[in-house]
Amino acid sequence: MTTEILKQFDNETFRNNLIEWYEGEQRDLPWRINQDPYRIWVSEIMLQQTRVETVIPYYLNFMKQFPTLEDLAYAEEEKILKAWEGLGYYSRVRNLQTAVREVAENYGGIVPDTKEEISKLKGVGPYTTGAILSIAYNKPEPAVDGNVMRVLSRVLLIEEDIAKTKTRKLFEDVTYELISKEKPSEFNQGIMELGALICTPKSPGCLLCPVREHCRAYEKGVQKELPIKAKKKKATKKEMAAAVIQTNDGQVVIHRRGEKGLLAKLWEFPNHETMDVNKQKQELEAFLRDEYEMDVVLTEKVQNVEHTFSHLIWNITVYKAELKSGLPKRDDIALVDRNSVESYPFPVSHQKIIEHNLLRG
Ligand code: ADE
Repeated sequence: MTTEILKQFDNETFRNNLIEWYEGEQRDLPWRINQDPYRIWVSEIMLQQTRVETVIPYYLNFMKQFPTLEDLAYAEEEKILKAWEGLGYYSRVRNLQTAVREVAENYGGIVPDTKEEISKLKGVGPYTTGAILSIAYNKPEPAVDGNVMRVLSRVLLIEEDIAKTKTRKLFEDVTYELISKEKPSEFNQGIMELGALICTPKSPGCLLCPVREHCRAYEKGVQKELPIKAKKKKATKKEMAAAVIQTNDGQVVIHRRGEKGLLAKLWEFPNHETMDVNKQKQELEAFLRDEYEMDVVLTEKVQNVEHTFSHLIWNITVYKAELKSGLPKRDDIALVDRNSVESYPFPVSHQKIIEHNLLRG
C-alpha cells in the first residue's frame, strides 16, 4: 500500500522543502529551547487534545514547579493535579507521574531511548513514543497524530477514514518512508507546524504552503474535503444536581471523587445524577442523606452549569444548601474555609460553581 501511495512522489524534494520551511518559520515555543527528553515528554502529553496557546502558560508553570523528572516523580499528587487544573483529561498527568517515577526508579532518571522501553511506560502511546524519540533523541520514528494525518492525507490524497486504528498505522508506514534520517525532529515538527499554521482544518492557506507543488489534494482542488473522518456518536446528556453546602461560619463541604474513572481524585461539590428532573431537589437531599449521612436542606436553585466532555455533557443544576447536622468522618468529605477552596484541584465545571457562589461575597 505505501509503495503504491508513494509511486511518483518526489520524496526527497518534499522533505527538503518542508524542513527548510520549518527551520525558517518555526514558532518560538517553550519546549523548543532544548532537547531535554523530560521537557519534550511533558509538552507532548499536554499537547494531546489541547491547543498550543492553551498549553503554553500551563507548561511554563509546570516546568517552574517541576523542573526535573525527579521533581515530578516525587511530587504530591494533589499538587500535580492542581497544576493541571483546567487542562482536562486528568489521567494524562496521573499516568505521566507513574511513568516518570518508573524512569526515576528503573532507568536511573534517564528517559529511555528505545521504542520498546518508552512505549511500555504508562500513558505513552505510539504518538508520544515517536515524538520523544524523534524530537529528543533524533531517531527517525513517525509521530502521527490528527494534525499529521490531516496534512499527509492532503499531500498524498489518502482517503481512508482517519478514525480507524488501521489508518494511523498506514500513516506511520508512509512516514517511515518519508522521514529524513538526518533531521527527523525537524521533519516531524515541520509537519506539525504546517498543520498548525497553514494546512489548517477548515481553510488551509495553500497559497503560502511550502509543499504546495507536492500536494495532490491541492492539484485536484479537494484539500477541504480531506481528511475523511467518520462522524462521532452524539454526546449523551446527563442531568446532574449539585449542592453548595455552607455553614454559618463561612465553611463549605467538598467531596473528593473516587480513585478511578472520569476526573478521578479531583474535588467537587457533592452531586449526583438526577433520575427524574421534577423531583431533583428531593432526590439530591435523599442522596446526601443516604450516601454521605448528611442532613441537608436545599434552599434555592442558584445556577446552571453545562460542561461538555468528549462523549458526555453534564447539565448541572446547582442548589444552595444548609447543613442541619454534623459531618460524617470520612476522608473523601471535607469542610473547608470558603477562601481556601481554590487551593484544591477542581474540574472546570465545578470551578464555575466556585466562581459563581463563593468568590463574590
Ligand atoms: N503538537 C504536538 N506536538 C507539538 C510540538 N512539538 N510542537 C508544536 N505543536 C505540537
